[in-house]
Amino acid sequence: MHPLAEELNAFLAPTVVGRTLTKFGRRIYFPRGIVAQSAEAKKSATTFNATVGIAMTDGEPMILPTIQDNLPRLSPSEATDYAPTGGDARLRTLWKTSLIAKNPQLSEDQLSLPAVVPGITAGISLAADLFIDEDDCVVFSDLCWDNYPLIFDTRAQAHCATFSLFTPENKLNVKGIVDTLRSNARRNKAVLVLNFPHNPTGYTPTETEARDLAQQLTALAAEGLNLVVFFDDAYFGLFYEKDVYKHSLFNLLYNAHENLLAVKLDGATKEDYVWGFRVAFLTLAAKGLSAEHFSALDQKILGTIRTVMSNSSRVGQTLLYKELSSLVYHGIKDKFAKVLEERYRSVRALVATAPAVLRPLPFNSGYFMTFELLKGDAEVLRKELLRTEGIGTIALQGHYLRIAYSSVDNRDLSELYTTIFAVAARLFSA
Ligand SMILES: Cc1ncc(COP(=O)(O)O)c(C=O)c1O
Repeated sequence: MHPLAEELNAFLAPTVVGRTLTKFGRRIYFPRGIVAQSAEAKKSATTFNATVGIAMTDGEPMILPTIQDNLPRLSPSEATDYAPTGGDARLRTLWKTSLIAKNPQLSEDQLSLPAVVPGITAGISLAADLFIDEDDCVVFSDLCWDNYPLIFDTRAQAHCATFSLFTPENKLNVKGIVDTLRSNARRNKAVLVLNFPHNPTGYTPTETEARDLAQQLTALAAEGLNLVVFFDDAYFGLFYEKDVYKHSLFNLLYNAHENLLAVKLDGATKEDYVWGFRVAFLTLAAKGLSAEHFSALDQKILGTIRTVMSNSSRVGQTLLYKELSSLVYHGIKDKFAKVLEERYRSVRALVATAPAVLRPLPFNSGYFMTFELLKGDAEVLRKELLRTEGIGTIALQGHYLRIAYSSVDNRDLSELYTTIFAVAARLFSA
């Protein structure tokens, strides 16, 4: 059991809560990870807060004008009526069409109808309910969104194994992924979680890496392994370099082999700049699944949604539907993406001047970049930045520092990075 859970249990033990908690209730705790560090920064990061995975401008979340304009105009039924369990039918169809536009290899009748879930987090947990049993093997990268261990280990009680994302040459570690799956698979089944653009590094595979990975995973399935691949595409669409694979890896694997089940989690959260809406989608595919299979699978998904959240936000779904159908949608969204790309280019130039103790990990997409500390403790650096400079960052695993440049205006990035460099050099370069 995690020490934080033990601490909570010991404190609650003499009470009726302690006497009645379930096994899950005893295991669960709130990690002192990204969310807790962000909360600390919210109070003390008076200069720049580069902790949060949202896109900000002038201290406010970026908002698409279509969303803003439609907000006050909704009818009561558009705003407050219950939504169907699997989501508004028109929105589900529209999202499916948009998936095909974004991933040109997808074929309409070889995918499930995306189900609306209240956020990608919920989608991952629901998919875990359906496809991960206690002690099943789940594989993800060692540096990852800190909710994965909580969902897959603490909640689902899977056997979790990790691979390092990069080779020593800074390439995607395709061999590491395949070897980790092979050596940890249990009962001829394994679950792989892929997240690109990646949190926390901001990396997306190149075309060559993506195709190599897809080919090797297909070969693994062809050997007889039942492979479930979760594609967490939270940051989809923010690709800043020419050689990056600009579709979801789902595009390459959704119809790859009868033994490979592709589970896509994506959504409006980051793609459409609506973090608090809680509207995301769960879409499944595998070679050989028929329309009848998809409708049986849909019943499974609806039953799972029904038992936990019943349905997702009506107001969020209405606004998203209006936004996706708006004539100006693509033009404005491209402009927003350009704002983030401009920040990426500034950061790229700035990291070239980092002190030797801070090694930038490969990044080419998304909201973040991460420094590896070649000396010193990342938590010491994070605390010093917050205390002396009012700068909020995220420390991970003792020797990584994540910067969410998505939440800092372009004009401030130079000051942000030069301050981080100066503090790191002062603390660790002696
Ligand atoms: C990789 C990754 N997946 C999922 C999420 C959460 O998405 P949602 O807010 O839709 O639950 C995040 C957000 O921080 C994330 O970084």
